[in-house]
Amino acid sequence: MAGRRLATTLTLLAAAFLAAAGAAAGSKPSAKFELIHREQAPWDEVARMDQERTAFISSHARRRRATEAAAGAKPKARAKATPPADEAFAMPLSSGAYTGTGQYFVRFRVGTPARPFLLVADTGSDLTWVKCRRRRHDAPAPGYSAPASNGSSSSSSSLAPAASSHARVFRPDRSRTWAPISCSSDTCTASLPFSLAACPTPGSPCAYDYRYKDGSAARGTVGTDSATIALSSSSARPAGKKRRQAQAKLQGVVLGCTTSYDGESFLASDGVLSLGYSNVSFASRAAARFGGRFSYCLVDHLAPRNATSYLTFGPNPAVSSASETACGGSGSGSAAPGARQTPLLLDRRMRPFYAVAVNGVSVDGELLRIPRRVWDVEKGGGAILDSGTSLTVLVSPAYRAVVAALSRKLAGLPRVAMDPFDYCYNWTSPSTGEDLAVAVPELALHFAGSARLQPPPKSYVIDAAPGVKCIGLQEGDWPGVSVIGNIMQQEHLWEFDLKNRRLRFKRSRCMQ
Ligand SMILES: *[C@@H]1O[C@H](CO)[C@@H](O)[C@H](O)[C@H]1NC(C)=O
Ligand SMILES: *[C@@H]1O[C@H](CO)[C@@H](O)[C@H](O)[C@H]1NC(C)=O
Ligand SMILES: *[C@@H]1O[C@H](CO)[C@@H](O)[C@H](O)[C@H]1NC(C)=O
Ligand SMILES: *[C@@H]1O[C@H](CO)[C@@H](O)[C@H](O)[C@H]1NC(C)=O
Repeated sequence: MAGRRLATTLTLLAAAFLAAAGAAAGSKPSAKFELIHREQAPWDEVARMDQERTAFISSHARRRRATEAAAGAKPKARAKATPPADEAFAMPLSSGAYTGTGQYFVRFRVGTPARPFLLVADTGSDLTWVKCRRRRHDAPAPGYSAPASNGSSSSSSSLAPAASSHARVFRPDRSRTWAPISCSSDTCTASLPFSLAACPTPGSPCAYDYRYKDGSAARGTVGTDSATIALSSSSARPAGKKRRQAQAKLQGVVLGCTTSYDGESFLASDGVLSLGYSNVSFASRAAARFGGRFSYCLVDHLAPRNATSYLTFGPNPAVSSASETACGGSGSGSAAPGARQTPLLLDRRMRPFYAVAVNGVSVDGELLRIPRRVWDVEKGGGAILDSGTSLTVLVSPAYRAVVAALSRKLAGLPRVAMDPFDYCYNWTSPSTGEDLAVAVPELALHFAGSARLQPPPKSYVIDAAPGVKCIGLQEGDWPGVSVIGNIMQQEHLWEFDLKNRRLRFKRSRCMQ
């Protein structure tokens, strides 16, 4: 890809820049927010991180295909019948744009007494972790080097003193419900793929060194603790219309206590909430108790921090029909009016990622010629939905077909160069100085089951600079996995029905 360039700075400022751009162009009402003023376009960095994440996802799938080819795919333990079928809980979710990241943050309370944390909502993670400080005299866990305690700040991060400068740090010794997991336990040896092999004594803590393929990492020890949740009965109200809910504790949540990390992508948040499909992830844990499903609505990625939507566990009547949940969800589930549904491919080889079956892509109603193998996991392709990737990454054959079709329709506009994008346009009218009223071609992703995703134009022809819009897609290597990122998912409600293996979605402003 011509424009791809590996930036060296680790600062993620994409959304902040975009916010500034949007405000300057006066293009959208949503542009009125707190801005973090920066000089430089950060898209390079977002693109780099998305690319590396995609490369990781593809190599992960290849590795799993190789190692688990013969393994009899034992179906995952089904969610047990939950007490009241309509019971749900929700956590506030918002765009991290105000911090300059391309992530979405969720507010999560853990420990006893409960402490609030702001975590990255990540469907590509299986470990939930929070920045953590242990008692000073604690011996470091085996297998990882203790963070520098002298507070020297190397430019490439290394946390630890984050504890002192950072208001929100988890203190396991101050939580009555924290229980360490030992390195000899089944959870550590079998369920935590990222745990370290070192186990000097059976009772030593289970240590991890979790590598994110954008170059960041988190190290610490694993335990369990209780998450405090706001319970609601969802049946009568749409998601989010919940006031003064009952509080409850979700016990035995696997939680990493991260005492050091690398990568500035974690500077703005307190850790990661794992929404991946894995038996230790928070999503699987919470979904098993609440209707076997979770859903989220992603506000416009440039929305201000107070524009809050929800991450909901349990049925969400806005996307799945209430009748199905009322009878215990034994059927295959059905979509509420206006919602689409497609099979959720909980393929062992793709775990913890959520794969979907793409049948095709169309531009202005015309189906593009893209080889079917591009969407086929068996043939080295496939597509996943990922809340932790910002820009959608399409493998070369798909990317080229899509940008060719989109750019053909935009050919009347003057092209401008702007890394990391291949197609950018000067959207400023020479006569008025305002944004041109140019119709953006309609992009649609067609999923199995006749489920069509028609994102708003701003989700794929994005504001990249004042008066400049770019086709906001990235080219991924083929063979490889295509990733539907969070910008493409914005302003939609997404339900991951793990129990019935369905993905449901519906257009929504996500404002309650
Ligand atoms: C102090 O920090 C530096 C850089 O992180 C490290 O190399 C050194 O070993 C640390 N010294 C002590 C006493 O922890
Ligand atoms: C979690 O899954 C792994 C394999 O993916 C399995 O070995 C382990 O026993 C499972 N653990 C639990 C608690 O179900
Ligand atoms: C967010 O805050 C701004 C100013 O503080 C206010 O004008 C706006 O209405 C708020 N938006 C929401 C969704 O609460
Ligand atoms: C876009 O076009 C306008 C009007 O012709 C011009 O003033 C502006 O400099 C152009 N912007 C870029 C980035 O080329």
